[in-house]
Amino acid sequence: MSLNLLAMRRVGRLAAATLLHVGERLRAGVSTGDIDRWVRTYTAARGAKCSQLGYQGFPAGVCTSRNEVVCHGIPRDDEVLCDGDIINVDVTSELNGWHGDTSMTFCIGTVSAEVKHLVETTERSMEAGIAAVRNGAHLGDIGAAISELAVREGCSVVTDFGGHFIGRQMHLPPHVSHVGTRGTGLVLREGMTFTIEPMLTLGSPQTRTLEDEWTVVTRDGRWSAQFEHTVLVTRRGSEVLTRRS
Ligand code: MF3
Ligand code: CO
Ligand code: CO
Repeated sequence: MSLNLLAMRRVGRLAAATLLHVGERLRAGVSTGDIDRWVRTYTAARGAKCSQLGYQGFPAGVCTSRNEVVCHGIPRDDEVLCDGDIINVDVTSELNGWHGDTSMTFCIGTVSAEVKHLVETTERSMEAGIAAVRNGAHLGDIGAAISELAVREGCSVVTDFGGHFIGRQMHLPPHVSHVGTRGTGLVLREGMTFTIEPMLTLGSPQTRTLEDEWTVVTRDGRWSAQFEHTVLVTRRGSEVLTRRS
């Protein structure tokens, strides 16, 4: 067992546990600023760092993306969660120089049937992408699995952002697209670590970035959901390093 694999497992478990910690506290009335404080405190108490804090100037320890926000939402004390909202919390942790990246979309109280379908389809599409991973598979197999499921379920796949390789840095090339053609793209090899993090929408997949230069929203204002795991390629499949226990 290589030391880097043990380190990646350790940081992956920490990122997953951080997300569980947030999930236990989320409810209507909480602000996204609260989520940021929970993540920073939990992370620091375990001798780790928030990889996203200060990354290319990102001003918080976590991304919180609510409703029509696709990704990279900035936590704020005046953004208070309401019954019926959805909120993606994206945690990236750094421990001993290694990074683990994971996110999930939480439903606050009761959400509409359409939104529930979006959230469930997004998680299933991520799992379909993960199921395509194994030594010898192609990167295009992952995007094909994700987009086929999403489209069959009436959702759109965002193509402006994607997954990424990860290890000693949060973001490493190449890009991991959530659309693709089977049998094309990079050949996956045992030991590679990267994220699969599809963003699905109910309307058009077009996005735009707000004036804060971070918050990415859908152009049409329809809602968007996202799930993310960090995975390790193995001979017969994959090991999800950020699986929640
Ligand atoms: N965790 C995000 C991802 O999945 C990274 C966001 S970069 C930030 O790739 F600077 F916005 F935090
Ligand atoms: Co990521
Ligand atoms: Co992430």
